[in-house]
Amino acid sequence: MSGHGTPIPMMSRPCGPLSGEAHVPGDKSISHRSLILGAMCVGQTRITGLLEGEDVLDTGRAMEAFGATVTNHGDGEWTVTGVGVGGFAEPEQVIDCGNSGTGVRLIMGAMATCPITVTFTGDASLNGRPMGRVTDPLALFGTQAVGRQGGRLPMTLVGAVDPVPVRYVVPVPSAQVKSAVLLAGLNAPGQTVVIEKEATRDHTERMLQGFGATLTVEQTDEGRVITLDGQPELTPQTIVVPRDPSSAAFPVCAAIITPGSDVLVPNIGLNPTRAGLFTTLQDMGADLVYENMREEGGEPVADLRAKFSPDLKGIAVPPARAASMIDEYPVLSVVAAFALGVTDMQGVKELRVKESDRIDAMAKGLRAAGVSVDEGPDWWKVTGLGHGNVPGGATVASQLDHRIAMAFMVMGMATQKPMSVDDGSPIATSFPIFEDLMAGLGAQIVRTNS
Ligand code: S3P
Repeated sequence: MSGHGTPIPMMSRPCGPLSGEAHVPGDKSISHRSLILGAMCVGQTRITGLLEGEDVLDTGRAMEAFGATVTNHGDGEWTVTGVGVGGFAEPEQVIDCGNSGTGVRLIMGAMATCPITVTFTGDASLNGRPMGRVTDPLALFGTQAVGRQGGRLPMTLVGAVDPVPVRYVVPVPSAQVKSAVLLAGLNAPGQTVVIEKEATRDHTERMLQGFGATLTVEQTDEGRVITLDGQPELTPQTIVVPRDPSSAAFPVCAAIITPGSDVLVPNIGLNPTRAGLFTTLQDMGADLVYENMREEGGEPVADLRAKFSPDLKGIAVPPARAASMIDEYPVLSVVAAFALGVTDMQGVKELRVKESDRIDAMAKGLRAAGVSVDEGPDWWKVTGLGHGNVPGGATVASQLDHRIAMAFMVMGMATQKPMSVDDGSPIATSFPIFEDLMAGLGAQIVRTNS
């Protein structure tokens, strides 16, 4: 089953050393936020390095439906001419967010305090994901929501006409929920306060400050307390989107497991709320170093050099690190298969409600490839077999999940027999140049229906 068209079965064959430079696309989280915040100020925001994946393009189309003008100038350069805080017009059509949980949840927040009614839908994956985690706090502003059973899309939101500010303790570690509440708080009078017990990616906070909102962050006994002054005048910005650490994860992990490899992945954003995978790989004994550490646009940035690492060991990944690497567990579990010993991943319940149930999707594929996996509701353990010992030779259902498809394509580079996925089309949601980029390093990924 494919989100945006015909399924694309793919196979990855064991290959020789990977080498060269991997220029991965722009950060998905920052790309969504650039378009949405650009639409929420009056005037023109310029964006370079925007991720031109399907998820972000769907968000761009949504911003146009709300009255903003989104223009592609080529080569990753975009402009957004916004309508201002509270200025969203009512779209004439249903807003289709495709595969993107980030897109739909952030946009719900952004429209929730505007006096408009909007119906949202998505693909089969997105329409199966819980939206109550966002519509519950939005109800506190006065927003009404009616969806399918279990708070699923398609869903209609009626924005609050007289929004009130909100104080909300986020019950799950989710930057999407935090961001939805903050974006809704923009058009509420007074101060909106969001408290998160565990720190999640902080791009919304940083970018709101960059766009001129008054927002403070304080660490207290309750957690991270974020206070936003409502109804600001946001100022258009020039945004340079850093390259996505979650996309960098794939060439980095591929180099680590593929004998003889030496790959440079330049200009990767290393915001501490995103960099947990790289620390974890180093803890496992991977030959991964940060070169040319610097700061760009207020964010730490480095070039990552990853080399084949023959002596990987399984480790217990600290649960406190989970939020900073939540999208990287699928590809980490692949690296774990090539390590010796058990990699124990605890406190990861959120993996069950991503584009797929990622524990289930990875466990099925790893087991089919000859790797032992134990799992519980919020944990899983992969027993690694060591280099050269992972059988492979399986075809795995990617379950409309880009990161599952890419993880198994990486795995096939170092298994004894090739690995296949039934559908690689979801890769285009976040990493449209994945196949070309990997081929440029020496990988052998082929489409098997052509
Ligand atoms: C994202 C937050 C994460 C992550 C997603 C992008 C964001 O989800 O999985 O890919 O941009 O805010 P949660 O915040 O729901 O964990």
